[in-house]
Amino acid sequence: MTPEEYYGNAFPLLKQGEAYLKSLIETYPNACAEDELQSILYVKTRIKSPESMMGKLKKRGLMEDAHTALQSTHDAIGIRVICSFVEEVYQIARWLEKREDIQIIEKKDYISYPKPNGYRSLHLIVQFAAKNLKSITAEIQLRTIAIDFWATLEHQMKYKRNVQHEETIRKELKRCADEIASVDLSMQTIRDILQSNMWKQI
Ligand code: GTP
Ligand code: MG
Repeated sequence: MTPEEYYGNAFPLLKQGEAYLKSLIETYPNACAEDELQSILYVKTRIKSPESMMGKLKKRGLMEDAHTALQSTHDAIGIRVICSFVEEVYQIARWLEKREDIQIIEKKDYISYPKPNGYRSLHLIVQFAAKNLKSITAEIQLRTIAIDFWATLEHQMKYKRNVQHEETIRKELKRCADEIASVDLSMQTIRDILQSNMWKQI
């Protein structure tokens, strides 16, 4: 089944919401000065596939139709914002919070409070102020590129059946997540030092 068939009348609204958020995030003042590093590296968006959405609803014991999907889940529209540094994740979130064309109805900070498996990201569930998009929500995930690498790999492994040495892999992934968090912190510190040096030179 295609997304158009599954989401029906709501599909154009989902596409509209997806495009709106993508272009909104692209207006974020990226790289202000010439020697300033880019804040947002890239933005990825997707409409959740019918298979994935129906699987999620089934797991929760709900009806698998699009109406139920849009009422009881928030990630039919998914936006992923990939940054270089952890601090930028929070800066972009604060910038989004101030906007009046969207409203953040839920925030999950898995960076300050990582999941037991080591997952770190900042999740925002947003609603649109535009009248025709009132019934639509979207999930924005903000994370560093280092964490994105980890999360993509971890996600692929999680959905592989009959993985051998599962416990060892789980432990190794957790160790990698912690090392990545430590590297992200060091990179942020180096950047802060470089920036304060730059200011002194001006
Ligand atoms: P669903 O997981 O979507 O059913 O909802 P939830 O209420 O548990 O939301 P949560 O914020 O925990 O997760 C939403 C999304 O974040 C997931 O669909 C994934 O894309 C991502 N995510 C959450 N936890 C993990 C994780 O442990 N590993 C990876 N790779 N991604 C995760
Ligand atoms: Mg989950």
